[in-house]
Amino acid sequence: MSRSPRRAAVVGLGSRATMWAEGLADGGRLVAFCDENRHRMRVQEQWLRESHPGLELTCWQPHELLDMIVREQVDTVVVCTPDHTHEAFVVQAVEAGCDVIVEKPLTITEDACRSIVEAQRRTGRSIRVAFNYRYNPVHEQVRDLIADGAIGEVGSVHFEWALDLHHGADYFRRWHRDKASSGGLLVHKSSHHFDLVSWWLGASPERVFAEGRLFYYGAAGAERGLDHGDLRERRDAGLKPFDLDLSASDRLRALYLEAEGEQGYRRDRNVFGPGITIEDDMAVLVRYDTGATMTYHLTAYSPWEGYRVTFNGSQGRLELEVEESAWAAPQAGAMAGTIAGAEPPTPRARLVHRPMWREPVEVAARPGVGAHGGGDARMMAELLQATDEADGRSATFVDGVRAAMTGIAANHSIATQLPVPVGAVLRELTGSATHTRGNPTPGPELVHARGGKERP
Ligand SMILES: NC(=O)c1ccc[n+]([C@@H]2O[C@H](COP(=O)([O-])OP(=O)(O)OC[C@H]3O[C@@H](n4cnc5c(N)ncnc54)[C@H](O)[C@@H]3O)[C@@H](O)[C@H]2O)c1
Repeated sequence: MSRSPRRAAVVGLGSRATMWAEGLADGGRLVAFCDENRHRMRVQEQWLRESHPGLELTCWQPHELLDMIVREQVDTVVVCTPDHTHEAFVVQAVEAGCDVIVEKPLTITEDACRSIVEAQRRTGRSIRVAFNYRYNPVHEQVRDLIADGAIGEVGSVHFEWALDLHHGADYFRRWHRDKASSGGLLVHKSSHHFDLVSWWLGASPERVFAEGRLFYYGAAGAERGLDHGDLRERRDAGLKPFDLDLSASDRLRALYLEAEGEQGYRRDRNVFGPGITIEDDMAVLVRYDTGATMTYHLTAYSPWEGYRVTFNGSQGRLELEVEESAWAAPQAGAMAGTIAGAEPPTPRARLVHRPMWREPVEVAARPGVGAHGGGDARMMAELLQATDEADGRSATFVDGVRAAMTGIAANHSIATQLPVPVGAVLRELTGSATHTRGNPTPGPELVHARGGKERP
């Protein structure tokens, strides 16, 4: 049982934190900020004070986290730092008696999953993962249709997710480009998708096989002649495709360019430059404990942004196609700086039910308004106000472990070129019962996969 936050702190005051800080401040529940970058934290604080003039808020450094919790009587910590740092903050916060809301992915390694599970067991505190896609109305509709038996038992899922040249490229400029920081897109991004499939099917992954490579960005793109060099080092004027001019957006300039002095972190690295250790094209095959399989593909260099997911069932087929809009623009111009704080256009969704032996029916997709198909607003309302997580929708740490471990296993499979029997690890970690059908093929033990070291 989670408590409704009354005195909350946000750790990590970058782009994503804005939504949490505003939501908590609106409800008068925000008491503290914590970030290693004082400049960025101050900028977020100033912005928030403009919209919430009476706000009382203190700012802290990461090593002061426990002091902050005690002195500010914090009951809930919202973790919005880069993915590889989540574990430390989640564990410290629950050990100090707080509940936690953590941005996805829960974490990026098997060791870190284990440490979070152990801390939760020791403390009994609530750890919820902000899987906002669960709150997209059309995703709930899919879950309801499957649960109501519209297509019978699900035999397989075919899931393709395409990130376009705006959104996809942005992962190759930021800390996400380093696998040791983000776990790669199979953990950082796909954990959303793996969580959705587990949630839609009521299933847990049993075995994972994956292939992946850096196909478009990095050296490969440079060899194709796409690389115009680093914008900051180039002598010729004018923006080229894939350049991000941080100075062209008030928001990006204040949050990132003017904050570089402290840690030297650059948010605008050349997407074709050196140092990228993540993949941009990934194929995954998952077998679930229900017996269902999933073929999954993520590409980060598409001219179109959206996803298609098809469920093949014993009594029919369900097809969902959603066109999403990029809201991270590479160049100065109309869309620059819309990475946070702006309303992206509403995605277009098409949901088709094809029963066996009957005419297909286009089902009116439940509309969602705002970021992530309306998921963000609904998630905030629920996570910040609900007192009970047993609503079947908010994601617990077990869901977080399941989604993260699917991606971690996929990374391990890419590195070893072998299938990974992740079900055994998940049973050990989460203690959840499974209902496996058939005989799992023996595979390698899932070792403690660590970021960039595991790439071949
Ligand atoms: N659910 C979603 O749709 C969604 C969307 C965007 C980001 N996210 C998640 O939110 C988190 C933050 O992403 P972002 O885009 O805001 O990143 P960001 O780089 O904009 O912000 C990260 C912040 O954390 C701070 N930080 C870094 N290391 C720290 C440390 N050790 N201690 C304290 N502070 C530290 C940085 O200074 C920065 O202010 C990530 O986990 C990301 O996966 C989720």
